[in-house]
Amino acid sequence: MTRWLNYYLNCSKSALYSLQINRYFVYLWILNHHRYTFIKGDICDRELIKGIEFDAILNFAAESHVDRSILDAQPFLQTNIIGTYNLLEVARQKQCVFLHVSTDEVYGSTEEDFFNENSPLMPNSPYAASKASSDLMVRSYIETHRLKAMITRCSNNYGPYQFPEKLIPLVILNALNKKPIPVYGDGMNVRDWIYVIDHCRAVDAVFHKGAPGEVYNIGARNEMPNIEIIKLILRKVAEILNLDEAGMMDLITFVEDRKGHDRRYAIDPAKIEQQPGWKPEMDFEEGITQTIEWYIANKQWWERIISGEYVQYYNNQYGKRLEN
Ligand code: TYD
Repeated sequence: MTRWLNYYLNCSKSALYSLQINRYFVYLWILNHHRYTFIKGDICDRELIKGIEFDAILNFAAESHVDRSILDAQPFLQTNIIGTYNLLEVARQKQCVFLHVSTDEVYGSTEEDFFNENSPLMPNSPYAASKASSDLMVRSYIETHRLKAMITRCSNNYGPYQFPEKLIPLVILNALNKKPIPVYGDGMNVRDWIYVIDHCRAVDAVFHKGAPGEVYNIGARNEMPNIEIIKLILRKVAEILNLDEAGMMDLITFVEDRKGHDRRYAIDPAKIEQQPGWKPEMDFEEGITQTIEWYIANKQWWERIISGEYVQYYNNQYGKRLEN
């Protein structure tokens, strides 16, 4: 969300409200002619949201990490389902435009095909199921209340400011700290990776030029098995810091697989490419290099995050796996 805000402030002046959650609090970002206002609140707090003046809601708010949803699904149900329902109710009362930022994970896993916007929703993790539920709530408000809503379903994001629990920042930080890199299963699970600013541009295109009631897949046609990405990151870290590449590769540690681990996510972005008309701009290797350089230059940002609650999560998630 902060990436989208920065992107938006650099290129537009229109009035708009938007919402974001981090792990404990929900933030309301209000973009208006005075640029933006920040409100610390909760999307489940309907009275708070009702009291704010705005033209549109962009719902970026979500608990989004699959591994956390396996450990405890409750916060996912609360934020992703109840939170979205609250926002929909306020949007219905105010008759405002609603853009719901969702995920390709709602379609589940496919070995061969590509999911398009009409593919059935077959979520496999509690996280994906909570997002699919919220997508269906949005759909019901479109059909029942004629809400001017749109849904975007994006593939895996990467880039600066990503919370270190996700694969790419986790690999970068463990490489910088010379810690083992946990690879789930055989490392051959495939994801389609997109640079965060390309995702921001796609959301902006849908918001301004998308058709109400429609769903848009956002993907960069950039599928890769996890192990290839991990090796690429380790090679780049070694190159940038002038370290021994073989020593970096030794950090790779295959661990017990994630429960219900989706083998492959693959979406067809042809619809958004044609109308409203969008294409990703960032080359993957260049994006990865810039992301590594950002984490190297912003140690203060992530050092604060990987202490505190994150230590407990990390030990819970990886402690036993890395011992075996
Ligand atoms: P992740 O960043 O959690 O995104 P998602 O599960 O939503 O796609 O994980 C991306 C892939 O990387 C996924 O196949 C799981 C795998 N993975 C690992 O192998 N090790 C890890 O420590 C993490 C966090 C993920």
